[in-house]
Amino acid sequence: MSFRVINGPNLNTLGERNQAIYGTLTLLEIEEKIRCLANDLGVEVLFFQSNNEGDIIDYIQRRGTDVQGIIINPGALTHYGLSLRDALIDVQIPVIEVHLSNIYSREEFRRHSVITPVVRGQLTGLGWRGYTAALELLVDIVKEKP
Ligand code: DQA
Repeated sequence: MSFRVINGPNLNTLGERNQAIYGTLTLLEIEEKIRCLANDLGVEVLFFQSNNEGDIIDYIQRRGTDVQGIIINPGALTHYGLSLRDALIDVQIPVIEVHLSNIYSREEFRRHSVITPVVRGQLTGLGWRGYTAALELLVDIVKEKP
């Protein structure tokens, strides 16, 4: 079983970026935690980060369907990324949206996600644990399939 973990704009600066909101771990450290869990679960995880919506869409179109599920933190694209939303509609595998911060407790513009309606579910406000929780959920969801 393989899963892709995709991070959008500005998530490459985790660790430096507003630590009170996003925590102290770098993206590499978060990916390491996900990789550790994946090893324990006996699954493969493949990582991608880009600051460009088009690159993320290209990645999803080219690589999105050869895995069993996707975990995505779209960064600010969450709130306006309609092209990304369309790309996610087209993948036929479960997708979980993750946010480090609780987007519902922040500025008004962050409280709306254009992504949530087209994915299986959303985990928000759980810090890096949102990613590991999403992986456990995806593995369960895929195992459950007939
Ligand atoms: C974020 C929340 C978004 O509003 C923000 O633009 C991000 C990170 C999160 O993980 O909490 O870049 O997706």
